[in-house]
Amino acid sequence: HRSEQVKKAPLTELMARAMRFYREQLKISPKAVDYLRARGLTGEIAAKFGLGYAPDGWQGLQQVFPEYNDNALIECGLVISNDQGRRYDRFRDRVMFPILDQRGNVIGFGGRVIGEGEPKYLNSPETPLFEKGRELYGLPQARKAIQEEDTVLVVEGYMDVVGLAQHGVDNVVATLGTAATDANVQKLLKLASRVVFCFDRDSAGDRAAWRAMEVSLAHLADNKTVEILQMPGNQDPDEFIRTQGKEAFIHYTRNATRLSEFLVRELVKQNPLVTAENRAKLVHDAKPLLQKIAAPILRIQIVKEIATRAQVSQTEVEAQCELKPLTRN
Ligand code: CTP
Ligand code: MN
Ligand code: MN
Ligand code: MN
Ligand code: MN
Repeated sequence: HRSEQVKKAPLTELMARAMRFYREQLKISPKAVDYLRARGLTGEIAAKFGLGYAPDGWQGLQQVFPEYNDNALIECGLVISNDQGRRYDRFRDRVMFPILDQRGNVIGFGGRVIGEGEPKYLNSPETPLFEKGRELYGLPQARKAIQEEDTVLVVEGYMDVVGLAQHGVDNVVATLGTAATDANVQKLLKLASRVVFCFDRDSAGDRAAWRAMEVSLAHLADNKTVEILQMPGNQDPDEFIRTQGKEAFIHYTRNATRLSEFLVRELVKQNPLVTAENRAKLVHDAKPLLQKIAAPILRIQIVKEIATRAQVSQTEVEAQCELKPLTRN
């Protein structure tokens, strides 16, 4: 790893320099400041997350990088080279959210368009520093609160993390619109005993919830819980806390659905138990999920729940689903 770190160091420095530049630009661009204010953010929270502004020019970064033609700027995703070899800034006229790794190094950015526009967010590409599926946005800022509460909330977006922090909910990270990965879930379960996924209630959120369940089953232990929370109405966590406040949000997170309950509920939703055929298919559909469960006692509990609903014995569910003998936790 040593040689790898030595090689990566210059890229990390470029990213840090870019972040400082974007932060300076924010201070002198009323339009971006007004946008963040209109979204309910104070300067203090903007500073805590290192928010910035990428100016509206093609080569704004030339101001801080005399070596603008250095390929390292392309390698770390800040600069793009077009077909004719002309170089220009990836991020232009956007509010910038730096993405930090565990040690606090800047490894990527998300840039939000001010107001309406496509794409709403532009993100750093995968680079030697930035592997999207491994990172949790907001982790360095959330770590202490996660430890204190032994709970980590996982939301979909940058603004959910920052908006919740604005209201004093600090134990929050985001997966950045991508489905939770094995690496994400393993990291989350190391951070706290209780992991609560908060998803928007739209089709993307529903798919993400199902995916989070599948991945979590494979990494759970019997002394940990994963819960799934679907936000009410069309609100995401940021909108919820802005309109209803911290207490209501905390209260709402207490109603999150345990993974076991979510699994059984979703399967029963897909197979209403009124017919013998559906009760048979319930067991059939449960098979791939039960096979994933890493927490031995939890697996027994869920098998029991499925067996009761399918009106067969626990042993029959275990046999039909070809469940391997349990290993010790
Ligand atoms: N996302 C993205 N590119 C997009 C849209 C979304 O990368 N074009 C990612 C971003 O990380 C975003 C997350 O998916 O934060 C959730 O998307 P969405 O709910 O649409 O955005 P919000 O975070 O709610 O953004 P905002 O509140 O600023 O509208
Ligand atoms: Mn959404
Ligand atoms: Mn939002
Ligand atoms: Mn959202
Ligand atoms: Mn408030």
